[in-house]
Amino acid sequence: MNEPKYISVAIDGPAGAGKSTIAKRVAKDLGYLYVDTGAIYRTVGYHMSLMGIGPKDKDGIERCIDDVNIAIEYRDDGLQHMILNGQDVTDLIRSPEMSMMASGVSAQPCVRAYLLDMQRELARTHNVVMDGRDIGTVVLPDAQVKVYLTASAEVRADRRWRELTAKGELVRYEDVYTDVVKRDEQDMNRAIAPLKCADDAEVLDCSYLSIEQVVAEMKAIIRKKAGV
Ligand code: DC
Repeated sequence: MNEPKYISVAIDGPAGAGKSTIAKRVAKDLGYLYVDTGAIYRTVGYHMSLMGIGPKDKDGIERCIDDVNIAIEYRDDGLQHMILNGQDVTDLIRSPEMSMMASGVSAQPCVRAYLLDMQRELARTHNVVMDGRDIGTVVLPDAQVKVYLTASAEVRADRRWRELTAKGELVRYEDVYTDVVKRDEQDMNRAIAPLKCADDAEVLDCSYLSIEQVVAEMKAIIRKKAGV
């Protein structure tokens, strides 16, 4: 068997565990491409909401999925820009409503099938740090490094609440906590590609670790598994 040309670091875990913060930092330090797959699901969710289609409307989503034209652009600002049918929706997909919408549409098999190739192609052509829910289990089962990054629901809700508040959004901690728990429930219990820890993933509980500590732990795991 040929050795794979590129290295894939797969990071999965529940909402608000800090996957994107950590993955982005690690990718930058290693010079790898950071792929935020949640943003891709959010973009699909955004399109469906524009079309007035609900997250559980299987027929509506199947009807519209082929109209979703997504491009990912990496710009100098360090952000992964999501372009939906020519429009930059990077900021628009970050609301609590779009979090729930993304979680809803991501349970639809046609959505997951539609996005699978896009994610695999990025890993086939780049060294990647890719974060999501099913990267180590479904998208990149042969990834050299797999990490399941988690934290308690209280800590994750607190982080999300601080993030949203810092952006000037008026949200109550209780509502953020309820959303986090509901999203865990949906993401872990859907029939297709549910969030779960891959058998060969390292579990990293970051409830009581600083960002610096998690980045260091993550790099130690990558060094051990991939020698980089
Ligand atoms: O990582 P995030 O919070 O931006 O993800 C938004 C939703 O998208 C999440 O609740 C479930 C879905 N998702 C998924 O099903 N599979 C992925 N690989 C990434 C995200």
